[in-house]
Amino acid sequence: MQKKTILVISNDAIVRDMLANLLAESGFHVSLAGTGSEALKIAASAGLDYALCERFLADVSGVELKRRFHRVSPKTRVIVVSSFTVIKGSNDVLRFGSSDFILDQGELLDLLRATGEDRPPVAEPVTDDRLKNCLVETIDILVGLLEVNDPFFGGNSHITMEYARSVAEEMRLSQERIDEILVASLLHDIGKIGIKTEVLTVKKEITESEFRTIQSHCENGAKILDAIDFPWKIRPIILHHHERYDGKGYPSGLKGREIPIGARILTVVDAFAAMTANRPYRRSLTKEEAIQELHKNVGTQFDPEVVEIFTGVIEKKFYFRGVGAKPKILMVDDEVDYLTLLKLKLVNEGFDVVATDNGVEAMRLMAVEKPDLAVVDVVMPGLDGLTMFRKMRGEKSALAEIPVVFLTAKEDTALKVEALYLGAEDYLVKPVELKELAARIRNIIRRDSRQRKGASGASTGVIGDLRNLGIPDIVQTLHLGLKTACVTLKDSGGNEGRIYFENGRIRHCEAGSLSGEEAFYKLLNLQEGPFVIAHGQTTQHRTIAMDEMQLMMEGLRRMDEGKREGVPE
Ligand SMILES: [Fe+2]
Repeated sequence: MQKKTILVISNDAIVRDMLANLLAESGFHVSLAGTGSEALKIAASAGLDYALCERFLADVSGVELKRRFHRVSPKTRVIVVSSFTVIKGSNDVLRFGSSDFILDQGELLDLLRATGEDRPPVAEPVTDDRLKNCLVETIDILVGLLEVNDPFFGGNSHITMEYARSVAEEMRLSQERIDEILVASLLHDIGKIGIKTEVLTVKKEITESEFRTIQSHCENGAKILDAIDFPWKIRPIILHHHERYDGKGYPSGLKGREIPIGARILTVVDAFAAMTANRPYRRSLTKEEAIQELHKNVGTQFDPEVVEIFTGVIEKKFYFRGVGAKPKILMVDDEVDYLTLLKLKLVNEGFDVVATDNGVEAMRLMAVEKPDLAVVDVVMPGLDGLTMFRKMRGEKSALAEIPVVFLTAKEDTALKVEALYLGAEDYLVKPVELKELAARIRNIIRRDSRQRKGASGASTGVIGDLRNLGIPDIVQTLHLGLKTACVTLKDSGGNEGRIYFENGRIRHCEAGSLSGEEAFYKLLNLQEGPFVIAHGQTTQHRTIAMDEMQLMMEGLRRMDEGKREGVPE
């Protein structure tokens, strides 16, 4: 029988050797790696059955490495443990760090088997809940696709649904009621199909007959959906979503609590979504102005309880850029399916998205659309992402100021370093978590607009996050590039540290009350958090004499030692 292959990834050579012996004795073919990049190289060239990986490596976190493994070696089962530490005096027992599992050889093998391919995958049962969720998500995507190219209504149904969900959950309605409200929110204006767009979107005096036509969308919508045997009672919500609390609404003139709760919620959140979105004939209101409008119409148009609850949750749960246009994103990716999905999700997150599948068209669109940010695929036929980026940053380019995030299927540290070094804001490997991408884009745009407002002429240099480019990579890049720069790093507590380079040599380092080598060793422990490389920034301090390689080696040795000391004997 062919031996199973396993890769052990740990900073600690002793642990690697110990695990190698243990696993080899048990019949595995064992490979070893000391860093994440080393592990990925091995994974790309060898078919691995398992990878056993420490949570904190010098260049990447174990969780991130597991994600990257999925790209280069999807069949490998990656097991991340908080850390491996050898317990002194024992030859066959390991402590798995803070997860506090003490495993002997047999238990370790059980762990591997339990997560391995030998166990047939268990299919998730098809339950009613699963089918209902699937139906809601399908409707969400289909309705989103109908709206996605509309600059004014793109994402409207999705955000209305999310607002309605937040109110219904806060009111602690039953799951069945909540599901009804979600589906009705997505489909509530389906009766507008067939009404001329200019009647709905152009601001002009409408005739009595046009007004009646608009009013008919509630009944028309209910009739259209009567043809479907929904598992939810969405008809009353769709039919009555334009009733008013004082009884002066349509189509039935229902009053107060005669109006179904779903319709009372939808009336409020639909009005808020409309007020805070641009229309062809007006700019959006600010969040505060829209809330004021809701309060003004409490008891007449709106249910007081719903308004109170909604105005409470809106502060906590939703992001607002403020009045005016949505942030505009240009996306370029030759994977058209992925591009469509990403565009839909970002539109639902409140962005205006212009998308294209090639770099040449992207350059043209950028000049016309002037986006707030570009999301660029690296590998594309014709004009690839990096060449496109260099052109954008070229001398006298009108596109030089547009922030760029690279999004790529290709995990390549050299490419990443080059992109960040050229000034890219971020570099993400697909598949990315879309909420995370949206949050990162917002942060970059916010920071960019702050920098423009307060531009004093000083360059902030390269900005990034240690999760994407670790300190060893930064040191290597600046050292080999013979750069003079100051790298500012922040930990999760907001404490700053600085590493100064002069012509590629580390000359000074500071972290809190520490300076010199000790400060460097402390900073080397940072696994995530923002960094800024300010080129040309120097200092008079000279606190480091060791060369960069010695510093790195000593720093990593101390990190290993620190972990071992944390384990009781
Ligand atoms: Fe409506």
